[in-house]
Amino acid sequence: MTDNLTPKAAKKVRWTSLEISLITIVSLLFIALVALTVLFVTHRQDGVCTTADCTRSASRLLENMDPTVDPCENFYQYACGGWLKRNIIPETSARHSTFDILRDELEVVLKGVLEGPAGGGSDALTKARTLFKSCTDESNVESRGGRPLLGMLGDILEWPVATDSWDDSYGANWTLESAIARLNEKYRMQVLINFFVGTDDRDSNAYIIHFDQPSLGLSSRDYYVCTGQYEQACRAYMQFMVNVVTLIRSDRQLSVNKTLIKKELDTVFWLETDIANATDSPNERNNPVLLYNKMSLGDLSSNFSLTVDSREFNWTQFTNYILNTVNITVSDDEDVIVYAPNYLSRLSLVLANYTARYVSHCAQTHGKEREGRQNVKKHEM
Ligand SMILES: *[C@@H]1O[C@H](CO)[C@@H](O)[C@H](O)[C@H]1NC(C)=O
Ligand SMILES: *[C@@H]1O[C@H](CO)[C@@H](O)[C@H](O)[C@H]1NC(C)=O
Ligand SMILES: *[C@@H]1O[C@H](CO)[C@@H](O)[C@H](O)[C@H]1NC(C)=O
Ligand SMILES: *[C@@H]1O[C@H](CO)[C@@H](O)[C@H](O)[C@H]1NC(C)=O
Ligand SMILES: *[C@@H]1O[C@H](CO)[C@@H](O)[C@H](O)[C@H]1NC(C)=O
Ligand SMILES: *[C@@H]1O[C@H](CO)[C@@H](O)[C@H](O)[C@H]1NC(C)=O
Ligand SMILES: *[C@@H]1O[C@H](CO)[C@@H](O)[C@H](O)[C@H]1NC(C)=O
Repeated sequence: MTDNLTPKAAKKVRWTSLEISLITIVSLLFIALVALTVLFVTHRQDGVCTTADCTRSASRLLENMDPTVDPCENFYQYACGGWLKRNIIPETSARHSTFDILRDELEVVLKGVLEGPAGGGSDALTKARTLFKSCTDESNVESRGGRPLLGMLGDILEWPVATDSWDDSYGANWTLESAIARLNEKYRMQVLINFFVGTDDRDSNAYIIHFDQPSLGLSSRDYYVCTGQYEQACRAYMQFMVNVVTLIRSDRQLSVNKTLIKKELDTVFWLETDIANATDSPNERNNPVLLYNKMSLGDLSSNFSLTVDSREFNWTQFTNYILNTVNITVSDDEDVIVYAPNYLSRLSLVLANYTARYVSHCAQTHGKEREGRQNVKKHEM
């Protein structure tokens, strides 16, 4: 073998052009291979995100699963078993979910922002901080007592049960248009009719007036059956109204006859129950195509007439009461969207059954209840 090597090597000094080409190709292929390997190692192109956030999310998903369960047997346990094992519903909550956890975290962040030093930031931030400070200034809130509420009642045409002469002083001048328009434009309360201006669902470049059913005093229309699981909520709601009326009448040095107050508020509660029954249930509202009923204000007036004490509700006037606060006036030709035509038809039957005194009542109790809820919220903070 060694003998043979020397002549062969000598012979191989002269490479044929074919050999040169082959060696060139092999070298090129080798360089390409090295380059691709380097690329593969540094840039993994397998569609898997390996950033810190992705890794954290993936680990959270895995933690929330229970891989010991066969997904074909119990998919829920397989997908959520880990979460269920590590989380219990806090005693203070009726439910607990990722969204609740996020909301709690957000509240902590917001509290930090709102309690931050005044000045700096936008005008909106300054206003939010001022509002927050006014709510948490408890000694001032205590010292003002019920005075702000008493002052506001006159502004919204009074609460019949909380005064002695409503029919004489306010009844004659009370109109549904002005009463609920005032609550809407000044106090952001949507009573009987939910009026708002928002983006047109079929033209995202345009704003348009919407009419919808309102939210209710109790959490949902189901509550108004007041039996079984809802009985306690109804009783508490009623008690709350009676308490507020009692406090207002005491502050005003008016007589307090709880039997009388309760009797009047019972009728108010029936009216609210009828209104709840008139609303569309969530099931009836899940088709956006059916919700979208575009018509002119004039058509709305002629097709959905509401009457209180034989006085017809003027839809255009109601709309203008609200819009005039921003110097806008609309005519009967204005297009609007009605989200709840069935509710409006049923509301018409309900209102025919009650006098202005009770409709007015209903508007105010609804408002009080909302305020009460906000106060409760405030104290939770
Ligand atoms: C009722 O309205 C009339 C006319 O606007 C007004 O003169 C009267 O003072 C009002 N009554 C009350 C009690 O506000
Ligand atoms: C309260 O009003 C009811 C019904 O009008 C009446 O029967 C009752 O005597 C009143 N109670 C008091 C303490 O005035
Ligand atoms: C609820 O409304 C329906 C009509 O939509 C009516 O038939 C029914 O009697 C109402 N129920 C109550 C308890 O008022
Ligand atoms: C209003 O009622 C008329 C008939 O009275 C009907 O032709 C029309 O379609 C209704 N308009 C709306 C928007 O419901
Ligand atoms: C409704 O009120 C407007 C003014 O806002 C008035 O022009 C119109 O005539 C009223 N419509 C009815 C039917 O009274
Ligand atoms: C509405 O117009 C009045 C008088 O022209 C003006 O003082 C007021 O600032 C305007 N309001 C709004 C919200 O533009
Ligand atoms: C009107 O009131 C009567 C008696 O209170 C009641 O029987 C009837 O169901 C009510 N109608 C509506 C539409 O609420």
